[in-house]
Amino acid sequence: METFDFDEEVNRRAVPALKTHPMVLGQGGEHLFAAGVADMDFKAPPVVLQAMQQRLDHGVFGYEAVPEALFPALTDWLKTRHGWQVDTQHILRAPNVLNSLAIAVSLFSGPGEGVIVQPPVFFDFYDILRENDREIVRNPLVLQDGRYEMDFAGLERLAADPANRILLLCNPHNPVGRVWSPQELRRMGQICARHDVLVVSDEIHGDITFSGHRYTPFAALGEEFAGNAITCISPAKSFNIASCCSAFTIVSNAERRQTFQAENSRLTVNKNNAFASVAMLAAYARGGPWLDAVLTCLEKNLALVRRYIAPLAEVELIEPEGTFLVWLDFRKTGLTPDDLIAFLRRKAGWAVTRGQAFGPEGEGFVRLNIACRHAVLEQALQRLVQNVSHAKHFSAKGLKSQ
Ligand SMILES: Cc1ncc(COP(=O)(O)O)c(C=O)c1O
Repeated sequence: METFDFDEEVNRRAVPALKTHPMVLGQGGEHLFAAGVADMDFKAPPVVLQAMQQRLDHGVFGYEAVPEALFPALTDWLKTRHGWQVDTQHILRAPNVLNSLAIAVSLFSGPGEGVIVQPPVFFDFYDILRENDREIVRNPLVLQDGRYEMDFAGLERLAADPANRILLLCNPHNPVGRVWSPQELRRMGQICARHDVLVVSDEIHGDITFSGHRYTPFAALGEEFAGNAITCISPAKSFNIASCCSAFTIVSNAERRQTFQAENSRLTVNKNNAFASVAMLAAYARGGPWLDAVLTCLEKNLALVRRYIAPLAEVELIEPEGTFLVWLDFRKTGLTPDDLIAFLRRKAGWAVTRGQAFGPEGEGFVRLNIACRHAVLEQALQRLVQNVSHAKHFSAKGLKSQ
């Protein structure tokens, strides 16, 4: 069996990686544990690197079509890995998932109309909605016994308002790590169908689930659900190729697909990048063993987080079912959101994403990316454990405690 090395140290600063960029880490942040931006610190799968190298060796980079084998490789992947049978005719290429979400929102709702989100949720959803002049309609998730649930009664009420046209779903959910079950998705989908609310589903994290949890593509629940869905997927997260891949929009409703296709043409976002094509093809056709290995590595990292966090009175781990993002509840420290971030930065050396970036429900929480070397994560956790008992006396302004 092929083995992969997830302990190899790779200098992310050798390229302008966002995760370690001053834009993200701020002034003087070079020594911090960079655990904000949602990518992995690992090299892409060897099969992807080889395919890209071969393409580079070819040396000519004129205009190209989509490789014939790409859509079948994607549909095979979705079928064998997730039990989702997708017709290749239903797939459209997109430059990236956010672009696909933005186009869906702009096409299938109008300015001033409502788009329902379930916060705390990925912050870029808000940017897309604001930049498109859509009303952000919030149906917060409910945190019950350490687990987030959808508020179905709230959804029913909001979906019934004819001004609300779309539900922007995050499946699995960044940042709380829920891998929505078929029952939850079905109930949600029935509410949306009943009130003619289109489900635009961001499923970029779908391949990354932990033992005992299975990703259900919303559109795989059946024709009646697929017909009311636009699904946005990409291999960016699964194979750590965010800066050199593109994405896919899956639309089974023919009329909406034609509308989407026409918009892609109008915006001329239908060009193909040679490296993205070969990287995605290699990943979907031959990247399975690497993904399995990376999932094992992430499970080990998650076990480490559990082990260090469990004894702490000040912090609670919201147990993730998927994604490599971990949602930590620091509300018991009593720190303000700004002080919490300052405390983690100064005392634990952590650069993580502040919870309120995902909506006000995220105040007192932070999102920690665990897709890094095991040893680096362990050192970061040790620094937290050594300092967290002093957290409640910390104030960034008054510097009551340094
Ligand atoms: C839920 C979610 N959607 C989309 C993206 C970004 O996707 P892309 O880079 O393909 O636009 C991210 C990246 O963090 C994400 O977490």
